[in-house]
Amino acid sequence: MTPFLLVTDLDHTLVGDPLALAQLNRHLEKHRQDYGTKLVYSTGRSRTSYQELLTEAQLLTPDVLITSVGTEIYQGEEPDLQWSDRLQTGWDRAAIVAAAAQFPDLMAQPEPEQRPFKVSFFLKPGPATTVLPQLERMLSDRHLPAQLVYSSEKDLDILAVKANKGTALTYVRELLGFMPLQTVACGDSGNDIALFCEGTRGIVVGNARSELLTWHRANPSAERYLATGHCAVGMLEGLVRLGYLSP
Ligand code: GLC
Ligand code: MG
Repeated sequence: MTPFLLVTDLDHTLVGDPLALAQLNRHLEKHRQDYGTKLVYSTGRSRTSYQELLTEAQLLTPDVLITSVGTEIYQGEEPDLQWSDRLQTGWDRAAIVAAAAQFPDLMAQPEPEQRPFKVSFFLKPGPATTVLPQLERMLSDRHLPAQLVYSSEKDLDILAVKANKGTALTYVRELLGFMPLQTVACGDSGNDIALFCEGTRGIVVGNARSELLTWHRANPSAERYLATGHCAVGMLEGLVRLGYLSP
C-alpha cells in the first residue's frame, strides 16, 4: 500500500454516521502509521465552530486543518500567514459587505462565521435565483473581485477571489508533497465542488446535495467516484473502490 492524502469535508461527509466514522478512523489511523498517509479536513466552519464539533464527534487530529471554505489554513494552532497574504489581492471586505447590504433577502450568518476573507449569509433558494446573478453583477460593476458559493439551498459565502476549498487543497497538497493522483477529495455539497476541480481523485458521498450531484453529472470524470453509502460509509466504499484501502 502507498501513502495518500485524504482531504475531506466534515459535516455530512466524514461526520454524520458515528459508527462508520469510528471504523473509517481505525483504517486511517493505521494507514497513517504504516504508510505515512496524511489527513486534511476542509470545512466551511470557522475554527471556533470546528472546535465545537470536536466536542460532539470523535475526530482524529488532522495533519492540516482548512477552515472557513478554504480561506484559512492551520497547522497546529497557527494560521498559515503565507496563505492569508495571498488572499489580500483585490479583496475589499467592507465594500463587499456594503454591496450585499443592498439585498434584503440576505440574512447575515452569526458573527463567528464572518471571517477576514469570507462574508456569509443565509439565502432561501427561491430568492437565490435572482439575488445571486444580481449580486454578481453589482460586484463586477463595482470592480470587487469575489467568489459566490451557494450551498445546501441556504448558505451563501462570498470569498476572496483566490480562496476556495480547491485552491486551498492544492496549496496544502504541494506543502505536504503529494501528487494529484495520490490525493483524494471527499464532499457532499456546493462548497465542495471546488475540491473536485483540482485534478485529484474524488469521492462524492451517496447523500450528496443536489447542487453537487448536478455538477458531478455535468462534469464526468473517471477519477471521481459517486458512492452509494452515506457519509463515512460512502468514503470507506470509495477509498476501497479507488484502491487506497483494502476492505
Ligand atoms: C458552514 C459554515 C457557514 C458556511 C457553510 C457553507 O456551515 O459555518 O458559514 O456558509 O458552511 O459553506
Ligand atoms: Mg458538508
